[in-house]
Amino acid sequence: MKKQDVVEAILKGRPSSPGEAGRGTAPANIALGKYWGKRNEELNLPVTSSLSISLGELGADTEIVPAETDSFYLNGDPVPADDPFARRAAAFLDLFRPDPSTGFRFSTVSRIPVAAGLASSASGFASTVLALNDLFGWGLEPRACSILARLGSGSASRSVYHGFAQWHAGGAEDGMDSFAEPLNRDWPDFRIGILELSDKPKPIGSRPAMQRTVETAELYAAWPAQANADLETLRAAIETRDFPRLGETAEGNAMAMHATMIATRPAILYWQPESVAAMQEVWAAREDGLPLYFTMDAGPNLKLLFLQPDRSAVRDIFPEIKIINPFDQS
Ligand code: PMV
Repeated sequence: MKKQDVVEAILKGRPSSPGEAGRGTAPANIALGKYWGKRNEELNLPVTSSLSISLGELGADTEIVPAETDSFYLNGDPVPADDPFARRAAAFLDLFRPDPSTGFRFSTVSRIPVAAGLASSASGFASTVLALNDLFGWGLEPRACSILARLGSGSASRSVYHGFAQWHAGGAEDGMDSFAEPLNRDWPDFRIGILELSDKPKPIGSRPAMQRTVETAELYAAWPAQANADLETLRAAIETRDFPRLGETAEGNAMAMHATMIATRPAILYWQPESVAAMQEVWAAREDGLPLYFTMDAGPNLKLLFLQPDRSAVRDIFPEIKIINPFDQS
């Protein structure tokens, strides 16, 4: 089964002529219960379900306009066709061209500060799918948009929504049951602090890193059960607004994911000395009674989790953090 087959199945009977322009907006997200490992590389089908929180106003706006030939813009600036951003966008747009000669003027404005070192692919692909839905007038439900965004990158399936979202692993070969859904639970005091520690290039991208982990880490066999148990705990903690339970589980889940990477051969370690120092500062603050937790993805930076009343205490320890209120999209 190829990506194109999934696209055709979803778009069957929908309009195939584009309108004048399409626009889409989507937030970035960070996983509290991680996605790590695919059961199908082509369709980005995951081994386990995952659960995320969106980053509110931090995300991407994409505009797509039919044109004679392709052109690409990032934050208003033209991007050459051989740039990785343009190549990834063109390959994704290929799935949706009414005929191979249809070109697009593709323009994305990313509200994620580049310096924050956050993956922008999730909001990028999700906003692209929403822009295509608008351009062609497909009238797709969020669930179908989530499936299409997943074909771009797995975590993009969760960026179709604001707030907490769960991406169901599903079991079908064609992935039609592997989509994200919103949890429809808010938590007005919930805060995320982005702690940028290093702008060194990553040693390896998440796609090959996941693949190598699944293929070579004996420890990976322990991951699915841990991930599933953590997901249930996270859901219960969100339901009851039990912040320490949520924080402990998210932090432990991130550490377990990184443990599988460290057990990969050769090892994958995204941490820098500054990452470890920051972890220890978080633990020391917790010893002193501050309910502060962290999560980490495929990079050296920490994302801190805390509640609004502790905002200034957290800022005293980490003055440089960017604080996000995921439930304020104004
Ligand atoms: O969606 P991808 O291929 O960029 O992979 C994301 C992997 C993690 O960020 C480490 C975990 C996650 O669930 O977002």
